[in-house]
Amino acid sequence: MDRYGVFGNPIGHSKSPQIHRQFAAQTGQALSYEPLLAPLEDFPGFARRFFHEGLGANVTVPFKEQAYRLADQLTERARRAGAVNTLKKLADGSLLGDNTDGVGLVSDLHNAGVALAGKRVLLLGAGGAVRGVLEPLLAQRPLALVIANRTLSKAEQLAAEFAELGPVTASAFADLQAPVDVIINGTSASLAGDVPPLADSLIIPGQTFCYDMMYSAAPTAFCQWAAARGAPVRDGLGMLVEQAAAAFELWRGVRPVTAPVLADLRRQLTAG
Ligand code: ATR
Repeated sequence: MDRYGVFGNPIGHSKSPQIHRQFAAQTGQALSYEPLLAPLEDFPGFARRFFHEGLGANVTVPFKEQAYRLADQLTERARRAGAVNTLKKLADGSLLGDNTDGVGLVSDLHNAGVALAGKRVLLLGAGGAVRGVLEPLLAQRPLALVIANRTLSKAEQLAAEFAELGPVTASAFADLQAPVDVIINGTSASLAGDVPPLADSLIIPGQTFCYDMMYSAAPTAFCQWAAARGAPVRDGLGMLVEQAAAAFELWRGVRPVTAPVLADLRRQLTAG
């Protein structure tokens, strides 16, 4: 059986095995997909041993940067992200590193009927999650993309680094007042039940689309904040499924249908 899996530590709660097994069943692909608990002290050795047999793997916390260094070749978007969430063994045995998080986000926005072309987009946060999606977001040709972060210098650094790819600038939260079309939360504030301090004037009720890259059983703090101001909202569960679909397609050359897989995950999540 063709072997795949997901590297992480911890890994027990990963939804990737369920997602990929559903994709495999749906597309008739004969493969196995396992959670792979990699040791913190030797990710490269563990990964290399897996790839003696294994054909591909996803990579999650805390190994995405180490996977970036492990890969023999990188896609352009993985190079820009500085992180790899998908590894594929090529015919010569070498490892290709890709990052499907950003295209996963773009695909899930598309599922929600949101196209970024010509839009004013506000991206919150300047950590690894935001760096990981910037290239695919800019490839959609937004009118303007503002990166806002608690620590302004990190937003400025990212904006400078990605400026050659599109109209990207940095801002402090307090300086944002003018309404935007799309707000994407890439901070980890939702984990603590926090929302970045944003002016209500950023949201045009019924129009400004708000997306949280995080998800949880109950609406995230950011989704609650946005919904209370009349914005349509969506959390990151669909991004998780779409980044997996892009990885599956890279490995198997077949594109799975994501909607039923997302619906199953949502049912399980809300059923607790
Ligand atoms: P990740 O890999 O999830 O992006 P990270 O690199 O630690 O994790 O980045 C976390 C991001 O969330 C940062 O942009 C952080 O802001 P700072 O750069 O100022 O630290 C942001 N963040 C975390 N908690 C936050 C909070 N309570 N309010 C606003 N921003 C927060």
